[in-house]
This record gives sequence, C-alpha cells and structure tokens, in this order.
Amino acid sequence: MSGTLSAADVRFDGKVVLVTGAGGGLGRAYALVFAERGASVVVNDLGGNIKGEGKSSSSADRVVEEIRAKGGKAVPNYDSVEEGEKLVQTALDAYGRIDIVINNAGILRDRSFARTSDLDWDLIQRVHLRGSFKVTRAAWNHMRNQKYGRIIMTASSSGIYGNFGQANYSAAKLGLLGLSNTLAIEGQNYNIQCNTIAPTAGSRMTQTVMPQELLDALKPEFVAPLVVWLCHESCQENGSLFEVGAGWIGKLRWERTLGAIVRQKNQQMTPEAVRNNWERICDFDNATKPQSTKESIMTLHEVLNKLGTERGVSTNPTNGIIQTSTSGINPNEGVGKKMPLTLYTYTNLEPILYALGVGMTTKDPDHLKFLFERNEEFSCLPTFGVIPAQDSMNGALASVPGLNIDFTKVLHGEQYLEMYKPLPTSGTLKSEGTIADVLDKGSGAVILLDVHTYNESDLVCYNQFSIFVVGAGGFGGKRTSDKVKVTMNPPNRPPDAMMSDVTSVDQAALYRLNGDWNPLHIDPNFAAFGGFKKPILHGLCSMGYAARNVLKQYANNDVTKFKAIKVRFAKPVIPGQTLETEMWKDGNLIHLQAKVKESNEVVLAGAYVVLEETVHQPKTNGTGMKVELQSDLVFAEISRRIKDVGKEMVKKVNAIFQWDITKDGKTAAQWTIDLKNGSGELYKGAAQRRADTTFTLSDEDFIQVVSGKLNPQQAFFAGKLKVMGNIMLSQKLELILKDYAKL
Ligand code: NAI
Repeated sequence: MSGTLSAADVRFDGKVVLVTGAGGGLGRAYALVFAERGASVVVNDLGGNIKGEGKSSSSADRVVEEIRAKGGKAVPNYDSVEEGEKLVQTALDAYGRIDIVINNAGILRDRSFARTSDLDWDLIQRVHLRGSFKVTRAAWNHMRNQKYGRIIMTASSSGIYGNFGQANYSAAKLGLLGLSNTLAIEGQNYNIQCNTIAPTAGSRMTQTVMPQELLDALKPEFVAPLVVWLCHESCQENGSLFEVGAGWIGKLRWERTLGAIVRQKNQQMTPEAVRNNWERICDFDNATKPQSTKESIMTLHEVLNKLGTERGVSTNPTNGIIQTSTSGINPNEGVGKKMPLTLYTYTNLEPILYALGVGMTTKDPDHLKFLFERNEEFSCLPTFGVIPAQDSMNGALASVPGLNIDFTKVLHGEQYLEMYKPLPTSGTLKSEGTIADVLDKGSGAVILLDVHTYNESDLVCYNQFSIFVVGAGGFGGKRTSDKVKVTMNPPNRPPDAMMSDVTSVDQAALYRLNGDWNPLHIDPNFAAFGGFKKPILHGLCSMGYAARNVLKQYANNDVTKFKAIKVRFAKPVIPGQTLETEMWKDGNLIHLQAKVKESNEVVLAGAYVVLEETVHQPKTNGTGMKVELQSDLVFAEISRRIKDVGKEMVKKVNAIFQWDITKDGKTAAQWTIDLKNGSGELYKGAAQRRADTTFTLSDEDFIQVVSGKLNPQQAFFAGKLKVMGNIMLSQKLELILKDYAKL
C-alpha cells in the first residue's frame, strides 16, 4: 500500500481522528487507513465481548502497535463510548485537537422481540445510540470553534429494512440516522459534516451469521475508503446515508408518493375516505424525493391552500414558487378536460378595490372613473377580467385527471387576457376553465389553462394562464402548441413612452383582497419557504399597473378600446419598489415592458397590449393581432414541416435561428426556429435561448428569398439581409427553407 501512498492526495496530515471500537473489525481498518494517510489516531476499544460484557486493553493496544510499526501516529483509549468525554480528552491530551469522530463501536444482543429483556434493550441503546451521542457531543464544541469537523455514524441494514431478532439493534441503528440528519443541519454553518453508513463486512460481529467464505470476501478494507473520503476536508457530502460493502457504495434517500388529499373543505375526514384513496396514497408512480422538513411542510401548506383556509376563503396558487417537484403528467388524459364552472358575484366594491390594488389613486383625476361608483363613466379596468377567472386555478386544477401534480414548484409563467365586452361594474359572471394543452419543456411542464368568462350567455373575456411546473417535464410530451398565446419582444429602439409608479409596501396586502389568497404575498415565513427574502407582489398586480398605464397613454382610459394583453412574469417585484412601464406604439399594438427601477430588472417581459381598431375590424390571428405579413404564412408552413421532420432537422442543423421581419423599416414580427433540442420548434417572438444566427430582412425580401427569386448572398451584399451571429450556419438554412418548406 505504501507504494501508492506518495501519489495519494486524500491526506490527513495534522488532523486528529478518533475511531471508537477500533480494536478489530471495521474500526481497525479505518484506523489503519487514516494513519497511513497522515492522521494522528485515537484507537478506542473497551475490549469486551460481543455482547458487551467484560473489558480489556489488548485489542486497542494491538492496533496502536500495528500503526506505530508502520510509522504512523496512534494512542490507545480503553474507555466505553458511554464516557465520551474521556475519549475526546485522550485526543486532546495526546495531540491537542479533535477533527474527526468515527462512531463505530458496537455490540449485539440478538433476541426475538418477545424475549428481549430490558437489559438487552438498554445495553444496545447505551452503546450504539447513547455512546455515539456522548462521544460526538464531547467533540462538538472543539469542531465548532475550529470551523472543521467530520462525523460518521454507523447504522445498519437491519435498521433500514428490519431484521428478525434485532428489534433493539434496529431501533438504535436507525436512531443514529435521525441523530446524523440533525447534526448535519446544526453543523453546516461550522463546516461540521455528519454522514451515516450501513456497512457490511466480515468481522467478529458477522462471524455467527455468515459463512467463512463470505466473511473472507467481505473485507473491512472494502468499506474503509468511503469512511475516509467522507471525512476529508474537500468532501462536501453532508447528511447522507450510504450502504457499503464488497467495494460497492450506494447512496440512499427518501421517496414519497404523490399521495392524495382525502378530505374536502369544511367536511370531516373519515377512515372510509382513507380506504377509498388507498391506492393513490401508496402509488409510487411519479414519486417525489423530499429532502428536508421544509419540503415536507410545504406540501402541507399547499394542501391547506388547495382546501382553503379555515376562514373559508379559497386560495389561489398563482405567481411565484408554491410547491413540489415531479409530476405524473399524462397529456392524453388531461388535455381538453374542463374545470368545474365557477360563479363570481360582485358589487361596485370589487372593481374599486381592484383599481386601488393596481395603484390607482384619487391624486390622478383620470382615475376617478375607476374609483367612484357614482362617477358618470364608472368602469371596470379591463384587467379586472382576471379576477373572475382565477377561481378556475384553485384546487380544481390539481384534481384534473392526467395532471397528477404535487405542486412544490409551480410558477405562474405567463398571462393572456382578451376582452370581448367591457366588464359589467357589478353582477355575476360564470367562468369555465379548460386544459388547452400541456407542454413538455424538459426542465418542467407548462399547463395552458384557458378560461372563458360569461355574463349570462355573452362571452365577456378570455384568459390563458400558463403555469410552469418545475421539474415536471420529461413525460415525452410536445414542446410547443398552436394554443400558446405568444409573447413578443419590444422593438429595438428607446421606448416611446414610460410611466413610473411607486408601489406601496402594502400593495400585495391590498391586492390579495381581490381573492388571490396565496400566503406567498403576505406571510414572510411562507415567502422564505419559496426562497424569497420578502413576500412578493402578485404578478397579475404588476400586469394591472402596466395595463392601466397603456390604457391611459394610448386609449384615453377608454375601456372599450382595450382588446388584449399578454405578459410573461420574468422576475418578482417586492411591494414598495418602483415599477417602470415602458411602451412602444406600433399601430394598434403596444409593446410593453415593466422594470423595477431599483434593480433595473425586467419583471414583465415580451408583453404587449392590443388596442381595438376604430376604423375597421382587422383579420386576426391567434394573438388577436392583424395578419398582414406574407412571411407569417411561410412560417406557418415551416411550422407544419417541423412537426413532421423536426427531429431529423435537429440532427442535421443543431442551431437556433431568429428572424426579425421588418415592414416599412420597423420590426413587424420576430420568429425563432429552435433546432437544438428534441424535435425542434418554431415560435413567434425572439429566441428564448440565445440565437446562433439572427436574420433581419423585410417581409417582401423574405418572400423573394424563400421563393428563390432573390439569392440570399446577393440580398446580403445589397444590404437587404442583415445577419448577426454565426454566418456559416446560414448555409444550413437552405435545408430548412428549401428541402423542408418546399417553397
Ligand atoms: P466488531 O465487533 O468487530 O467491532 C466492534 C468493536 O466495538 C469491538 O472491537 C468492541 O470491543 C468495540 N466495543 C463494543 N462496545 C464498546 C464500547 N462500549 N466502547 C468502546 N468500544 C466498544 O464489529 P464490526 O463488524 O467491526 O462492527 C463495527 C460497527 O459496524 C458496529 O457498530 C456494527 O454494529 C456496525 N455494523 C457492522 C456490520 C458488519 O457487517 N460487520 C453490519 C452493520 C453494522
């Protein structure tokens, strides 16, 4: 072994290690490797028999001699681990410090449970659990003070899985895992790490249960390197559990079913409901892997959220991180499913409360028509249209078959709202939600929830909520859909107008009274669970600010002019921050972007408002905007082709292309073909990941190029076509435009 030592870099020079029960078996193997790698070792062993009876100094002495004979540093200690301070004191006396504790000492008193005596129970707990506690506590403050410590607990597969005749031992062994889990948390700020191993090795302990052949094969030397590595200062592992033996090492963690909520709001929970849901409670398909108490509590928060709080208000899981991890998504089952109808009854109060919630104030005389019910023009702000629709998001979404989501990380990603009639200032509106589509974005799933809201039988407005479920992707679904209401980047020029609003520190506290009760927006503890320093403003509230600014700037606050809005929630806003709404007018299309002034971060991205055209009703496409570009048709054709042969193109091309199509010198549309992933996708708007090549050309020239009338090189040299990024890749374009679009 010494031949390889010089090259070894997992060294412990200057470090002091205490190994309990190191007089034989696994402990001895650890002590030898640590010593070979430069550590000073305290070799502890009580020297009793396997049942914990008697004592002797010989086994510890033998190992110390063995180490010294090889030139290593070691001292013996013969105390029981129950006297932890004495063991640590030996280290301090001999070497002046203690860096690493390997809790390894152990005995066995196997009995069937019925025959287990008090002594059998107590002795096992005392040596394994209490002994590890005493030794570790004695070392703890030294480790804290020096900001370095490594601790190993020794559990057993008997504790993890149970073993006949080892009730006492199993209990103690898994007790050590609980101890380790907590020490890992309490120690982490002091660079103290604690891990647990469940070893298998031939030793005097396993002599009685294993044949000699196996005893010889399962050498302690096939366990020791794991223990030694876990204790190195460069190892970052903390709070983990490993099974180890025969030179194999595996890590274990908890797995939890998605489970089932077996009670309903304001109803008793019954054993029958538990029985009836048993299969779902125990179904490990799409199980999650919670790693902390925080995650465990988050689940309960979410359950309470879904069921509504005790005060009887329902909660709305929108905007920001709410809950879980993986999902059981089966789009075939979920898509097209309708939510239960929801009714929203309101008086003049609610639209006024909403207007105040999005920062309207009597300081601005223009705002009075939204704040005073007896004003001649009293109106609802158009974006109030999200309020009656938001109930469709409540718990109902989670109950949709095929969308088995354990919400730990759900983000309200985007919102689209289209108006058909001005909202009545009071009344009862009926909303119907439908799962329009479910997309697989790899890192997550996007659920498109379409909600149509009616006044009697008149369609008043239509919302599309896009909900991103982090970690729920990879179910083999499509990446995009023609149901998506797309975002659009603003033109590349300074904004035509900007409006600034200082939000109140109580803005979220006020806005939530519109029925968005998610505690993320008011409860600091809940916000902290979601990873936010403070409760955040509702994304829909920022959208309300931006929308009313556009309405004032470009439509003279005439709500009948407001046709549609689309926003992407890019970053959270903290109540009290200043929102800056930047606007670019492009005909009836107003691009917008909202930034937080303090951080200069974009919070509403790819956003726009469509205003009603006064002169003529435009022919519209899915976004409610005019279709007047010929290139739109070409891209629609390319999109169809990608569906057929996208995979093949990804293989051949492997690049992201963006087109900026201009009309009368202004950017009129942006398109992206992403041929880097999966089966490729084409979408309207700027590239969501960095484009490799961006082409800028007019709508007319684009048509000329794709129809073969204009040579791209000539267009380039004539300045008709601008190419940014990787020009070489544009050669692959022919592949897309000619071979596949066949245009
Ligand atoms: P071992 O019996 O060879 O070593 C245990 C050592 O601990 C003995 O030398 C013993 O004298 C010492 N010891 C017992 N009580 C003590 C006390 N109160 N104070 C100080 N020293 C004391 O057994 P082995 O197999 O090396 O076990 C080491 C650890 O690994 C034990 O905690 C055992 O429970 C655990 N383990 C071993 C498995 C295996 O396959 N060998 C399987 C699962 C767990």
